[in-house]
Amino acid sequence: MLSKLSQRLFQGSSRYLAGAASRGQQTASSSGHLSSEEVFSREDKYGAHNYHPLPVALKKGEGVFVWDVEGKRYFDFLSAYSAVNQGHCHPKIVRAMQEQAEILPLTSRAFYNNVLGEYEEYTTKLFGYDKLLPMNTGVEGGETACKLARKWAYKVKGVPKNQAKIIFAANNFWGRTLAAVSSSTDPDSYEGFGPFMPGFEIIPYNDLKALEAAVQDPNVCAFMVEPIQGEAGVVVPDNGYLRGVRDICTKNNVLWIADEIQTGLARTGKRLAIDHEGVRSDLLILGKALSGGLYPVSAVLADDEVMLTIRPGEHGSTYGGNPLGCKVAMAALQVLEEEKLAENAQKMGEVLRAELNKLDKGIVTTVRGKGLLNAIVIHESTEFDAWKVCMRLRDNGLLAKPTHGDIIRFAPPLVITQEQVMECCDIIKKTIMSFQ
Ligand SMILES: Cc1ncc(COP(=O)(O)O)c(C=O)c1O
Repeated sequence: MLSKLSQRLFQGSSRYLAGAASRGQQTASSSGHLSSEEVFSREDKYGAHNYHPLPVALKKGEGVFVWDVEGKRYFDFLSAYSAVNQGHCHPKIVRAMQEQAEILPLTSRAFYNNVLGEYEEYTTKLFGYDKLLPMNTGVEGGETACKLARKWAYKVKGVPKNQAKIIFAANNFWGRTLAAVSSSTDPDSYEGFGPFMPGFEIIPYNDLKALEAAVQDPNVCAFMVEPIQGEAGVVVPDNGYLRGVRDICTKNNVLWIADEIQTGLARTGKRLAIDHEGVRSDLLILGKALSGGLYPVSAVLADDEVMLTIRPGEHGSTYGGNPLGCKVAMAALQVLEEEKLAENAQKMGEVLRAELNKLDKGIVTTVRGKGLLNAIVIHESTEFDAWKVCMRLRDNGLLAKPTHGDIIRFAPPLVITQEQVMECCDIIKKTIMSFQ
């Protein structure tokens, strides 16, 4: 049965469609009947060309599955870059969104609302921080963390005005804003977008000696790093790296910012990827699965010494902390806990990697990952590369996306069952064998 809200939306949209049709315009209703080819060409014509999607036109999702406009079903092995850890259209999160949408979606922070505090209390208690600052997209979470670190540098550490430095690891990825691309080492991300943000320095990833040397500069206020580099191709650092980062930052009065936007929220087999080494960062950035794929919600968590350096009027966002996003995020976090998705990611990840390790080493040279954040490296030849493998996986009913030419990430929703993992491994095996 349609909820009150969807009935209202439906009635509203059919009125709009009727009006548009009578004016002879092409309307959104026609997208229901478009073929995949028509979907591709319409986006190509009217949309900016800032993505290169795999040619598949999706229209429906449920759990680990998505369906294209022709009705073909696929396993989703990307999970919207780990935003859909809880599975597509998780009923509890959808319900939370529908209910709050009918009551009060947005107030702006000009006024209090009765949900934000509840969400902040729930989330800070769950992760063990004093306070939370709500934002929307992941990259805004990163920007917020950098701004907090700079304020802390001037107000607490005593760095001279405008001299604060933040250290990043090579091959990091935290989004597309000017600050984010200023810290990038990937020319596709930064080329043509200068001038860049000053006060950012890059050191190699997984290199504690380099970090130790960099933080000797007294103007360094923070080190921002992903516990596993996702977009770089699921690069897992050595055991002990995160503990080493913690120790070096503590010893040198430097804030450690953990970017857990992709690795966090059960993806790697623990609530946070830094939990694998039993360490705690000074600032924690969450996004993506914080809303289970329904709505952009991100957050920075920190203790009072850092968080209270920013005062009213110094940072914010119109949508940040809106009641709709807060309810969605609470439901998304509860699903992770109630359904023990970290434990499932841990177990299913082991099953998946064990099977992937049986693939022909002449084609799949490396298998790596933690929990359900995994990647294979494809040995490139004239007959095949990662793109061609992904195209054939698509034909066989599994969607994955290449990164950096030779790497394919395998990151299904964490609700996947062992039977489904085995079915996916058969698809992957069959696909790889077809290239032999
Ligand atoms: C580690 C990490 N940080 C930040 C971001 C940026 O998130 P968003 O695309 O929501 O801005 C991403 C996106 O892939 C990411 O993987």
